[in-house]
Amino acid sequence: MHITPEIEERLQRLQDKYEAMGQDMTSYLDGLLHADFLTYWDYIHLDTLLSLQSPKTPFPDEEIFIIYHQITELYFKLVLHECRQIANHATLNAAFFTSRLKRINSYFEALTQSFGIMVDGMEKEQFLQFRMSLLPASGFQSGQYRMIEIYATDFINLVAKDKREELRNAPMADQFEYIYWKFGATELSTGKKTLTLKQFEKKYAKTFIELGEACVANNFNALLSQLKTWGEDTGGLEDELRRFDVLVNVNWPLAHYKSAVRYLNREPEEIKATGGTNWQKYLPPRFQKRIFYPSLWTPEQVENWGKAWVDEVLNG
Ligand code: HEM
Repeated sequence: MHITPEIEERLQRLQDKYEAMGQDMTSYLDGLLHADFLTYWDYIHLDTLLSLQSPKTPFPDEEIFIIYHQITELYFKLVLHECRQIANHATLNAAFFTSRLKRINSYFEALTQSFGIMVDGMEKEQFLQFRMSLLPASGFQSGQYRMIEIYATDFINLVAKDKREELRNAPMADQFEYIYWKFGATELSTGKKTLTLKQFEKKYAKTFIELGEACVANNFNALLSQLKTWGEDTGGLEDELRRFDVLVNVNWPLAHYKSAVRYLNREPEEIKATGGTNWQKYLPPRFQKRIFYPSLWTPEQVENWGKAWVDEVLNG
């Protein structure tokens, strides 16, 4: 074999690398001789991935339900991956923030577009039966979804509207007691916390409070203010933040709400959700009026948050 200067240069670099760690390069080259080639299926752990669906019932459509939830959680993982890159950036500027936020928005766009798989992609009669085997589990218990919200805005914006002024300067743990979603998870009949909520809090309360504390100065809202203080041009960033706000707080929730209407709406009385919530009063964005960036909207836009869309979902 002809040892070209390119090969020699690489051998030299390898030699340097191993020598620095007190290792013998030739032994490692022997190892390469025996090593298998990497395969696609090993690289992405395909067999493990495809073994993670365990339906609780024999209804074939339950598998669709499980897989679509898993797909959504993987997208949420992608979103959080970008949230961390933004929040932990040592020298953040508007350009980097905007580029990463565009990625996040494309993930939520994909999730919103694909939600029809849930709305039209399962037989209602199968769904209404297999869901009874999943009690009291609910998508409400998605920890990643709540973490995205904590990265997105000041924690106080996630507190129930009527408690915000009172708790503005309160410790994070006190604010957490009044986080908006707790009110969605009260039992219809007794007004008590649902088991769904109790279990969720047991697993995640500490994580959420700690993340809230860690994000005081570097949630997206705080970071936007900081960049403005530094005199950065944040026009493009604000456009993406508005898109993000609508995607997470109106478009995705409405696509999701449409699935609840399709499967759980039964006149004259709605069917109880697995989490036991009063979902018709809780889920519509125009009632929740969750807004990450109130200062980026006009009072009229805030007033009409989610309205046009809700009418379309309910009457369409
Ligand atoms: C047929 C499909 C679905 C139906 C009928 C449905 C129904 C519901 C209902 C009724 C609630 C209110 C809480 C409860 O009582 O359980 C809820 C909450 C929630 N679900 Fe779903 N869901 C569906 C699919 C999904 C999927 C695929 C995800 C993805 C992870 C998801 C994530 C969530 C989240 C994050 C909440 C909390 C929303 C909030 O607090 O505003 N759901 N769902």
